[in-house]
Amino acid sequence: MHGIFITFEGIEGSGKSTLINNVAAALRRAGQDPLITREPGGTSLGVALRKVLLNPEMEKLGSMAELMLFAADRAQHVSQVILPALEAGQIVLCDRYSDATIAYQGHGRGIPLDVITAIDNYARSEAIPHMTILLDLPAETGLTRARTRNKKSMDSSESRIDEEEMAFHQRVREGYLMLADQEPDRFLVLDAREKPDRMAGLVMDGFRSRFPDAV
Ligand SMILES: Nc1ncnc2c1ncn2[C@@H]1O[C@H](COP(=O)(O)OP(=O)(O)O)[C@@H](O)[C@H]1O
Ligand SMILES: [Mg+2]
Repeated sequence: MHGIFITFEGIEGSGKSTLINNVAAALRRAGQDPLITREPGGTSLGVALRKVLLNPEMEKLGSMAELMLFAADRAQHVSQVILPALEAGQIVLCDRYSDATIAYQGHGRGIPLDVITAIDNYARSEAIPHMTILLDLPAETGLTRARTRNKKSMDSSESRIDEEEMAFHQRVREGYLMLADQEPDRFLVLDAREKPDRMAGLVMDGFRSRFPDAV
């Protein structure tokens, strides 16, 4: 595998989609052709699963069913999209990945972490991120931003997550920070209240220092 696999993590509204687009633009200016993808939803199966997972009208999904649907999305995404791109030498930028499963289904919903890692290890197989950007933000700020964004775009597809209580999002944030503490070499933790341009610059600095031969 010659490619570089970078994941973007953080609570709702932390700015992942914004940052991923800015980083992709910076990489393109440096002569790269990055692939932008996301979970759930990076394949046609994933698009269908995303509708189920984020649909507020869907009957309340049990935590285990939810975990299995995310795992199905990941397995398909890894085999159909991520591994082929890495094998072709591409830089893959993925909006949410395994750390989100641990933070949301583990720290958020309370599924034991060893159950999650066992399932996730099968789902992701060899696709292990080389670098993970964590956008850290108080839960309240993130939810306020996400609500404003959803009102503007009339997009209610993410409302299932938005409607969950603040305490859940605080646990998710803490879970992410614990993961970053455990693997400081893989993680780059950014204050998500910084200006978008500055954050993209910090990601590019971190990228260049980790992969000096890539750009
Ligand atoms: N660094 C930032 N500072 C202030 N607002 C931001 C920043 N990054 C993104 N936003 C805004 O916050 C909202 C959520 O950003 P988005 O990128 O959609 O977050 P996510 O993908 O993590 O849910 C959007 O309206 C976006 O324009
Ligand atoms: Mg987003």
